[in-house]
Amino acid sequence: MQVPDGLDAEGRLKHRTARPDDALPSPYSGPEAALAANQGVVPPDLSRILKVYPGGPDRLYGLLSGYAPQAERQKGRGFFNPYAIGHFTAMPPPLHGNEVKYADGTVPDVQAEARDVTTFLAWVSAPHQDQRRRLGVGAGLYLCFLAVLFALLNRRIWSDVRK
Ligand code: HEM
Repeated sequence: MQVPDGLDAEGRLKHRTARPDDALPSPYSGPEAALAANQGVVPPDLSRILKVYPGGPDRLYGLLSGYAPQAERQKGRGFFNPYAIGHFTAMPPPLHGNEVKYADGTVPDVQAEARDVTTFLAWVSAPHQDQRRRLGVGAGLYLCFLAVLFALLNRRIWSDVRK
C-alpha cells in the first residue's frame, strides 16, 4: 500500500510504500462517510486504540469475542456485549470465524481471530515498546553500576580526611 509522504519540490503530494508502524488508513473518505456507513456513529481510529481503550488488550479480546452467536441490533442501543462500555456498542460483530486460513491448521474460530487482531493492535499501538523496555533495563543497570562506583570512589577520595 502507498501512503502520502510530504510534498515534492513542485508542491505535489509524494507517496511511499507503507511500513507496518504507519497509522492505519481510514476506510472512509471523511467523517460524513463514516457516519453514513455506521448508523450515525463514527468508529474510532484503531491506530492507537490499545493505548486508550479502558481494560486494554484483555477487554478488547473480550469485546471482539463476546457477542452472542446471533447478536441483533437493539433499537437505539446497538448490540449487547458484556465487554462494551455500558454493555452496548454500535459496532456490529466484526469477526465471525473462517475469515482466514491458518497455515498451521489452527481452527479459525472467532477466539483465534480475536486473539490475533488484539495482538496486532497491541503491537501497532506501541511498536517500539520492546526496544524501549530493553533500553530502560540497560540504563537502570548502568546507573546501578555507576552508583556503586561513585560510592567506592567517594570513600577512597575522602579516606585521609578525619571524621
Ligand atoms: C476486527 C476489527 C475491528 C476491531 C478490532 C474493532 C475495534 C473497535 C473498538 C475497540 C471500538 C471501541 C469500543 C466501542 O465503542 O464499543 C470500536 C467501535 C466501533 N466500531 Fe469497530 N472494530 C473492528 C471492526 C469494525 C467494523 C468492521 C465495523 C463496521 C462494520 C466497526 C464499526 C464500529 C463502530 C460503529 C464503532 C463505534 C461504536 C460505539 O460508539 O458504540 N468496527 N471498534
